[in-house]
Amino acid sequence: MKKRILTILGARPQFIKAAAVSRAILEYSTIFEEKIIHTGQHYDRSMSDLFFDELNIPLPYKNLGVGSGSHGEQTGEMLKKLEPCMQELKPDIVVVYGDTNSTLAGALVASKLHIPIAHVEAGLRSFNKKMPEEINRIITDHISDFLFSPTTLATGNLLHEGFGEQQIYQVGDVMYDAIKFYQKKSSQGFSEFLSDHSLSSDPFILVTIHRAENTDNVNRLTAILDALNDIAHSKMIIFPVHPRTKKIIQETYSRELSPNLKLIEPIGYLQMLSLQEHCQLVVTDSGGLQKEAFLNQKYCLTVREETEWQELVDGGFNFLVIPDEIAIRVANLWNKPFDSMDFQPYGTGSAAEKIVRILEAAINQ
Ligand code: UD1
Repeated sequence: MKKRILTILGARPQFIKAAAVSRAILEYSTIFEEKIIHTGQHYDRSMSDLFFDELNIPLPYKNLGVGSGSHGEQTGEMLKKLEPCMQELKPDIVVVYGDTNSTLAGALVASKLHIPIAHVEAGLRSFNKKMPEEINRIITDHISDFLFSPTTLATGNLLHEGFGEQQIYQVGDVMYDAIKFYQKKSSQGFSEFLSDHSLSSDPFILVTIHRAENTDNVNRLTAILDALNDIAHSKMIIFPVHPRTKKIIQETYSRELSPNLKLIEPIGYLQMLSLQEHCQLVVTDSGGLQKEAFLNQKYCLTVREETEWQELVDGGFNFLVIPDEIAIRVANLWNKPFDSMDFQPYGTGSAAEKIVRILEAAINQ
């Protein structure tokens, strides 16, 4: 009988990571079958369905429709709805990704039902427990059975927290797998993107901002937008705006936006890859985009006080900045050649296959 993998997803970056692993699971379809449950954490078409369509992710067995809410409300609702699903589906293993509320809920329910848990992207730490993601990832790691670490630093964090080496598998980063696979498909659409959005082909900065620590503090979000607005006097900025950020900008930002600061709706993964490929540099607070910038040979300014991807800061590819520093950094990096010097912290782009092979070996023991 085939072994059943239950994948729990809910938020945009998880769809990208799971796309890579789902493809690898399909290669082992004589051994595994995958069922996907979507918690419904992200529900706008541009934040969810678009990704399933363009990345060819198998359709979820169920969407729990949890939607937005406070952390307790959102996570609690997921726990309540996930438990009967897992009891019904009786998976041999539950796979969770990253650090969202969907990750935590999936892992907690599985752990109470004594179902083995695989955590993809284990060991990342910002060492800032005020971030909801930090709590989610610490707890998820500590109740997981298979810790799939993307980097040497993440592996070191796990060892430091007392995990045994037999539980840690440093497989590389599944987002690298995704980039390698989808980049070919993304490159054709750039000129179409420009004409769809009535944009010129001038060099541009790609911006995303959505973290609670930036959006929920009005002064900080205002300072970020002021900085971008000033830079936009001389440079084009393309900023696909997360719904959380859009709502807060509409409610709180009163200055007139420069016509060069292009706030657009969230875009799909393929368009995002093509913007990364064509941009001059990246300004973000997203975890995934920091790595994607590096893998696309672009410098990144990260508007945070710390990052889980410290190896890029140490290597001089990524710069942690406060809002007031964005303009000067942009000026310094604008024409600076990017040389990654064969630095490869994220593995070889074959993490998904390694994960499935490790699960197969473990399940057959
Ligand atoms: C979540 C993750 C974050 C990840 C991000 C990627 C947690 C704690 N955070 O943050 O780690 O980087 O996803 O995008 O899980 N909203 C919509 N439509 C949607 C989704 C969200 O309008 O499809 C709005 C709602 O107002 C919601 C707010 O965005 O209240 C925040 O959504 P939420 O799921 O809480 O977290 P994200 O900010 O997306």
